[in-house]
Amino acid sequence: MRTQVAIIGAGPAGLLLGQLLHKHGIDNVILERQTADYVLGRIRAGVIEQGTMGLLDEAGVGARMHHDGLVHDGVFLCVDGKRHHVSFKDMTGKAVMVYGQTEITKDLMDGRAAAGARTIYSAHDVALHDIFSNAPRVTYNVEGETGEIVCDYIAGCDGFHGVSRQSVPPDSLKTFERIYPFGWLGILSETPPVADELIYVRHPSGFALCSMRSHTRSRYYIQCSLDDHVDAWPDERFWEALKPRLDDEARANLVTGPSIEKSIAPLRSFVAEPMRFGRLFLAGDAAHIVPPTGAKGLNLAASDVQYLWRALLEHYKDKSDAGLDHYSERALARVWKAERFSWWMTTTLHRISDNPFDHKLQLAELDYLFRSKAAQTAFAENYVGLPY
Ligand code: APR
Ligand code: PHB
Repeated sequence: MRTQVAIIGAGPAGLLLGQLLHKHGIDNVILERQTADYVLGRIRAGVIEQGTMGLLDEAGVGARMHHDGLVHDGVFLCVDGKRHHVSFKDMTGKAVMVYGQTEITKDLMDGRAAAGARTIYSAHDVALHDIFSNAPRVTYNVEGETGEIVCDYIAGCDGFHGVSRQSVPPDSLKTFERIYPFGWLGILSETPPVADELIYVRHPSGFALCSMRSHTRSRYYIQCSLDDHVDAWPDERFWEALKPRLDDEARANLVTGPSIEKSIAPLRSFVAEPMRFGRLFLAGDAAHIVPPTGAKGLNLAASDVQYLWRALLEHYKDKSDAGLDHYSERALARVWKAERFSWWMTTTLHRISDNPFDHKLQLAELDYLFRSKAAQTAFAENYVGLPY
């Protein structure tokens, strides 16, 4: 089989890239290791920056998001039982959209199916060949049958554990990493949210987050230890751990109920440089990971895709390789700023150590934020998403 761009991975990065390319007449094939149902079963964050919204609109898949998504003009930060508000609208004139990543993935999959673009699910043993030549290839196996795609470019959108980053010569890659000594225990429940905006909580017992998927479905997280296991966290124990971390109003509003999903995620910051190797371009989690505090994962994948699809369009339509040549540098400049913000939110809001000095610094940092318009503007600018 021959195509212009072979895309590895049908997560948000691969699907969004595929849709934008397809809309502009650039042929592409997506190879995904899992089934579509498996991909749709993953629960991830759900805060969409305005730039990401614009890209979803450009890809023609934004209608349901605008109908069902919740526009949030600000966010609450609760520090040791006292809640503060930061207004995105007042500080930046912008807002974010709360809409689950699962729904975005579904909208992208539906859009791709409607467009008749090719996706090969359950593709095993995906292998990249000749990435430094003018005719790279990808081989794979579906139900025992071997397939081969010859293409102009390969987009490695296959997440942190994917094959793309692992296919580059090790000495051409530099990686940067921080692993945090705690995780997030998250539950989804069919209960109304405690407030009309998200509440990020800093408390001596540890971080918590009150988020939502709709007016009737809530998503909550609490900081947990890395050796914790979900089986040790029946729902009652979760609610009892969450309650004391909240402010009085949120605690009074909290409606508890059975969880419909419960999982533990470790927290990691990671960047691989560069993001281009010959004719292979990495995008999304394949190149970088942020801890979820700040909800930048999906939005960073979208900003990579923004640089990459425009660069590919320039190549095919304008016969210019300037965008492709600058892709890595442009994407990484934005990635590092989101890495910084996610790291800052993580280290400011979690119980990061037993050292009282660290706690005092966190409180000083947050007190400064609540008293300074400049600090709130910087926070809001980063939360709603820096310009592309
Ligand atoms: N071959 C084919 N597909 C693969 C392979 C492989 N060897 N390895 C991984 N994949 C697929 C995964 O099954 C997954 O569906 O690549 C996809 C990568 O999707 P994500 O992990 O969602 O990564 P990305 O699209 O970059 O999304 C970035 O969305 O999923 C979140 O946490 C993620 O917030 C981040 C953002
Ligand atoms: C979520 O709703 O799952 C969510 C929201 C904000 C975050 C992380 C996760 O920072």
